[in-house]
Amino acid sequence: MKFLANPGGTLSGCFRVPGDKSISHRSIMLGSIAEGDTHVSGFLEGDDALATLNAFKAMGVSIEGPIDGKVIIHGVGLHGLKAPEGELYVGNSGTSMRLLAGLMAGQSFTVTMTGDESLSKRPMGRVADPLREMNVAVATEENGRPPLVIKGNGQVKAMHYDLPMASAQVKSCVLLAGLYADGETSTTEPAPTRDHTERMLSGFGYQVKRSGATASLRGGGKLTGMHIDVPADISSAAFFMVAASIAKEADITLEHVGMNPTRVGVINILQAMGARISVINEREVGGEPVADIRVQSAKLKGIEIPQEQVPLAIDEFPVLFVAAACATGETVLREAEELRVKESDRIQVMADGLVSLGIDARPTDDGIIIQGKGDEEEVFCGGSVESHHDHRIAMSFSVAALRASETIEILGTDNVATSFPNFVALAQQAGMNLEQVND
Ligand code: S3P
Repeated sequence: MKFLANPGGTLSGCFRVPGDKSISHRSIMLGSIAEGDTHVSGFLEGDDALATLNAFKAMGVSIEGPIDGKVIIHGVGLHGLKAPEGELYVGNSGTSMRLLAGLMAGQSFTVTMTGDESLSKRPMGRVADPLREMNVAVATEENGRPPLVIKGNGQVKAMHYDLPMASAQVKSCVLLAGLYADGETSTTEPAPTRDHTERMLSGFGYQVKRSGATASLRGGGKLTGMHIDVPADISSAAFFMVAASIAKEADITLEHVGMNPTRVGVINILQAMGARISVINEREVGGEPVADIRVQSAKLKGIEIPQEQVPLAIDEFPVLFVAAACATGETVLREAEELRVKESDRIQVMADGLVSLGIDARPTDDGIIIQGKGDEEEVFCGGSVESHHDHRIAMSFSVAALRASETIEILGTDNVATSFPNFVALAQQAGMNLEQVND
């Protein structure tokens, strides 16, 4: 599949992007190991969250749906999962593999997890290492790559883990293994990362203590089924925030967007660049803050991205680079080396695409320097860019077309379905000139 992103267009209207990917994954995982039923609404019907759902079905959990974003999970309790018949294939989803690794550590069976070509290149040593310290036998391919084999032996050792990198997936993996451990397990993170696991565990009635950068829990408790209303994914909303900011005379409202403070870096960064974003109707839904977000066209300026915002906007950098190209002056990102080990090397892949569209974008070891062309109406020339099967790269270049002189062809867009299955329809509805073509 490929996209043809035709030049020009603008955006208007009120709409809701699909459910939060991180929260959708966790709703299935925790609902499955809870006692009683969990009712989920707003579930993301994207390939990644469905990979998690299918993994739990393969371990004997009865799950109804999703139908219109509604899922009912008949929880089996902490010790009710059954050995799957074959390997657990989790497609493109790093979150599935890394969080499941923690849960599998506590089982008394062996599980092999595999993924697609992109996931097979991603580092799993970051979860294998702490799990080994917790007395769990874990095998990977060379250099810590998948398949990941977890040999649960029912004897997880509690521990304290100082995370070597700011990663919510690693933190969650250790805490989930800690549910099965013999005492208190704790993690300390070098910078705040998304805390959906901690919040949701509390929602399921499992006590999680939090003190500064440290989260801890005791093994051997229980989770009780609950209702989860998944907010719209701020990471998906981000494409429209940038789109409306760079397009002419745009005015949109994104409804019911998750505003967890560990996720709002994209808004902070765009506002620092001069974006016109207002956060309205703030409320709390099931332990997660939610709001509507109005975005209007603005003249953006380049900035040095504040260091503390990097982990809070980690998935939004591809589209923020598009915003930087449409700003006046230079934008500099540093200390974001984690971007090199996402679904693609997002620093290199974005730099290559931007350069081919006429932008001076220089990758560095841990970031990028982009010279904005915001004074020009048509910032990008047309051409063909390779998404490397990375959903966020494909959607970012679709947004760039709003300020392009010619069509941008985006190759390898199938994986947009991992996080945002109705992206093209919603983009068209909002006013973007985007087409999907089977190749
Ligand atoms: C996620 C955490 C982030 C993020 C990923 C989802 C999660 O990864 O990039 O898309 O749901 O915990 P890291 O924690 O590895 O930075």
